[in-house]
Amino acid sequence: MDYSPENQKKYFQFAYQTGSDIWTHIPYYSKALSFLPELEKDSLVLDIGGGRGLWALHLLEQGYRVLGIDYIPSIVDKVNERIRGEGLTERARFVVGDAKEIPFVDEGFDLVTDIGTMQHIEAKDWDRYVQEVYRVLKKDGFYLNVSYSRKTDQFLGWKPKNSATGDFNKFGVYYHFFTEDEIKEIFGKKFEITKQDFQIYESKSDPEDKIVLVFSIMKKKQS
Ligand SMILES: C[S@@+](CC[C@H](N)C(=O)[O-])C[C@H]1O[C@@H](n2cnc3c(N)ncnc32)[C@H](O)[C@@H]1O
Repeated sequence: MDYSPENQKKYFQFAYQTGSDIWTHIPYYSKALSFLPELEKDSLVLDIGGGRGLWALHLLEQGYRVLGIDYIPSIVDKVNERIRGEGLTERARFVVGDAKEIPFVDEGFDLVTDIGTMQHIEAKDWDRYVQEVYRVLKKDGFYLNVSYSRKTDQFLGWKPKNSATGDFNKFGVYYHFFTEDEIKEIFGKKFEITKQDFQIYESKSDPEDKIVLVFSIMKKKQS
């Protein structure tokens, strides 16, 4: 099945209902947590493309309040059900929304996190995405991005390291593997990247596969 925005949505809707997605099984949590800046208790965090809400639960454990968006309504309903079940409605809520048009006011968040979402947004929309993240962050806000890295040798039958574009698609979904230079180019005008690192993970899909993720924490530049 070729990539199209509609096919991609269908995939996410199905995969996150059945737990058959690839991403959630990558144990990125401890590294991502180690990248978080020191923020005050009750700081407000936006999680973009929150999926099953597992990362949001980690943020709640840090003492933050969390708003999440995901563009699949059934995923959002499921996370909110879980939030209700755990008695966390005072501290967290998910809403349906697209990362390219974040449904929140300007300068409301201390931290925005994107764990594996931007890598599924087409390159033509990256500027718009960056503008939206910048808009909703407070003046001294931070942004954490965790994405597939172009340092990946082999994954799902692809060779991202040898790819000139870093673009792939499978089951109707678009995947981008980022280089450090790309991240700098995409975010550099609006954000100062304060720390960046990589981590390699075994893959459950194929013993030969190893996925490399790039972790970047950035600070909003003053306009
Ligand atoms: C790879 S999953 C990551 C899920 C979650 N962040 C995690 O770490 O488990 C990508 C998620 O982003 C959502 N997504 C993709 N493109 C989006 C967009 N443009 N706006 C909002 N959500 C999006 C998908 O529905 C999916 O839940």
